[in-house]
Parts: sequence; C-alpha cells; structure tokens
Amino acid sequence: MDQELDIPKSMKDTQTLEDLPGVGAATVDKLAAAGFGDLMAVAVATPGEIMDATGMTEAVAKKAIHAAREMLDMGFSSGIDIYEKRKNVLRITSGSKELDKLLNGGFETTGITETYGAYGSGKSQIGHALAVRAQLPPEKGGLGGIVVYIDTESTFRPERIIEIANGLKLDPDEVLRNIKVARAYNSDHQMLLAEKIEDLIKKDGLNVKLVIVDSLTSHFRAEYVGRGTLAGRQQKLNKHMHVLSKLADMYNLCVYVTNQVMAKPDMFFGDPTEAIGGHIVGHNSQTRIYLRKGKKGTRVAKLVDSPYLPDGECGFMITLNGVEDI
Ligand code: GTP
Ligand code: MG
Repeated sequence: MDQELDIPKSMKDTQTLEDLPGVGAATVDKLAAAGFGDLMAVAVATPGEIMDATGMTEAVAKKAIHAAREMLDMGFSSGIDIYEKRKNVLRITSGSKELDKLLNGGFETTGITETYGAYGSGKSQIGHALAVRAQLPPEKGGLGGIVVYIDTESTFRPERIIEIANGLKLDPDEVLRNIKVARAYNSDHQMLLAEKIEDLIKKDGLNVKLVIVDSLTSHFRAEYVGRGTLAGRQQKLNKHMHVLSKLADMYNLCVYVTNQVMAKPDMFFGDPTEAIGGHIVGHNSQTRIYLRKGKKGTRVAKLVDSPYLPDGECGFMITLNGVEDI
C-alpha cells in the first residue's frame, strides 16, 4: 500500500501552546492543568473557559483562541477539495452484505466509525471480524493492511481470530501476527497508545489500515464515576478522539470504536438508552451505528445521523465465520 500520503500542512506544524500570543510557560502549565493540553483544545474552547483556567483578560483569551484556530488552519475548504478527498475513501467489508450496504460498501477509511449498544450486542465481535477482513486483499473486500487493536477490557480473543481466519482460508498465524494488540490499563494509557500509533506507521513502516479501540469509553466512564463535573472527562475524550481522527485522515485508515450505552431514567417512550460520551463522541464519529439484539439470535444495526448516508437499518448474524447475513 502507498505510504506516501500527502500530509496536510497543519499536521506538519510544530507550533505549540507557547506560540500563542500572551501565553508563556506558566500559562501553558495552567492551561494543561485545566485540560487544555494542546492547540486544538484551546481552539475549540470558549473565552470564559480560558479565562477561568489562566486568569487572562477576555481580550487576551480571545486573541489566543483566534491564533490557535489560525495555526490549525480551521478555515474553509472548497467543495471540490472535500469531494476529491472523499474519492480516496477505502472500505473494509464486514462479512455481511447487508451491513456493508448500510455503510455504502463497508467500514470507511478517513474517519471514525462507532458502534454503541448493550452488553452482548456484537460490538467486539464486529471488531474481531474487521481485524481479520482488513487483511484481505482489496479485491476480496479488505485493505491488505496491518491492524492495531487497543483493548481496554481484555476482551480480545485470539482464538476467535483464528476461527474467522480459518473460515476465510487465511493463515491464522499470519493473521494474528498482523494484529498489534495493546492492553490499555487506564484512560491516560489508552490515550498514549493512540498517540504511539503514528510511530508504528512512520518509524516502523507498518501499513496500518485499521485501528480498533474496544471500548472507547469504558475507562473514561469508570474513572469519572461520581465526580462533580464531567467537563474534564469530556475534554480528554475529545482530545483522544481528535488523535484518532487525525490518524484516520492522514494515513487513510479506518478507525473502529465501540461504546456502551446507559439507561435514560426519565424515558418512557422510544429507545430508553443513549450512548456514553454524549455529543463529544457523536461529533467525532463520522459514522455511528446503534446495535441491538433482534429475534432468534440475530442482531440489528441502525445507522444514526450519518452526514453522507441515508438513515437505515439491517439485520445480521454473529456466526462461526464472524459476521454474516441472516
Ligand atoms: P460488551 O462488550 O459486553 O458491551 O458487548 P459487545 O457488544 O462487545 O458483545 P460481543 O461482540 O462480545 O458479542 C457477544 C455475543 O456474540 C455473544 O453473546 C454471542 O452471542 C456472540 N459470540 C461471541 N463469541 C462467539 C463465537 O465465538 N461464535 C459465535 N457464533 N458467536 C459468538
Ligand atoms: Mg465488547
């Protein structure tokens, strides 16, 4: 696969918080302590948040935010640039034609695809199926690539990979060798692992085409239970997802993340569950799929709020071979 991808200008910049007007080393420390660890965090902050964190005046805070936005090149792109970029999107097939069809051909590169759903709804099983199928050659629906699996709940099962690989007549040892698994022990570790993926690509020359984070939110959720404010958690999650999105964009790879749901206690009609992480996770996921159990052991996938695809629903099965049509 072609590694010589065009790296956007903003990614090559080595500008840091200290390059912002009115921000010195002491202010950088104050910003970092409040969760504004990089330019992106400042660029999307409100002046009030920056004032609270640093004690700056409003005028200085506004100037710093404006400068951060300029440095990150957060302006407009022309429609044609976006169109050209969309043409580079590649897709990994899941094993279920119906599920692929729902996603216009499969799980896309250049963005994050999130599944959320209750315990046992099939989120990790889809991850296992993709980890094998991403290694297939393009003519068979894969990307001939290496897979990175960030495992936060110790649910990665090599035996299951072997089973799926055998079903596809692939060499199971080879398939396992091409999956780089890292167990994340807490949310900071998880964030660090995501930041290190770029080294695997740039320094070790690995052709990473799929990054799986299973689960995206479990550590964040557990660590912030009972805390007064969720703002810190949301900021960290946002930062983590930015790292993943940038990877997807820069290296034309697919990021697949799983997410839990929580009960909405005040809900009497409609779906009583919602995804963890609120709008932060929703905004950063280009494609969101809600999974639930259907009749007779089937699973139902529902596409939620896709910017590119029509809403829709389909059924699939978890089988010996991974994920298949009903
Ligand atoms: P949580 O991580 O607990 O939130 O759930 P999840 O959505 O990740 O569920 P997961 O993908 O682990 O799905 C679990 C379900 O997949 C089980 O209840 C089984 O029905 C099915 N399953 C798991 N392993 C196998 C397997 O080896 N073969 C088959 N046929 N089905 C399996
Ligand atoms: Mg799971």
